[in-house]
Amino acid sequence: MARTESARSTVDARTLLEAIALAPDARTSMRVAVEQLKAQVPHYTWVGIYLLEGNELVLGPFLGKPSPHTRIPLNRGICGAAASQQQTIIVDDVNSDPRYLACSLETKSEIVVPIMKGGQVFGEIDIDSDQPAAFDSRDKALLENVARALANRLSGA
Ligand code: SME
Repeated sequence: MARTESARSTVDARTLLEAIALAPDARTSMRVAVEQLKAQVPHYTWVGIYLLEGNELVLGPFLGKPSPHTRIPLNRGICGAAASQQQTIIVDDVNSDPRYLACSLETKSEIVVPIMKGGQVFGEIDIDSDQPAAFDSRDKALLENVARALANRLSGA
């Protein structure tokens, strides 16, 4: 745990939130978030953002192996569940979750955090880890802050 803990504490959340707020446009703010999260947290193996278009989640900026899941219906996957339920989902062992849509054979755990504001879902942050049970309440708190900042950009606020 010590390795994971020290890795996560390297995230400069304030600088990241400022970069999201100050990016010239919403698309850039999403790219900045993905790049900084991937670069700063070693156990974040795959970092991406899906955007809600109608009843589908469409893959936007991401870093990691290309995913076969570029469009996910709201009733499929852990991604679909988090957006429909409008809440963060942490899965410690993806292979024991029947909802899981595999992106890479190495993936062991996943967190999906909706990007939403005033009850409206704009998309979500999806992060996979090659470590089992890699995500806890600290990841949830960090990523929900990032999602709030992105929701402000995507809603045009
Ligand atoms: N695992 C996700 C699909 C997206 S890939 O991980 C990039 C899911 O179950 O919805």
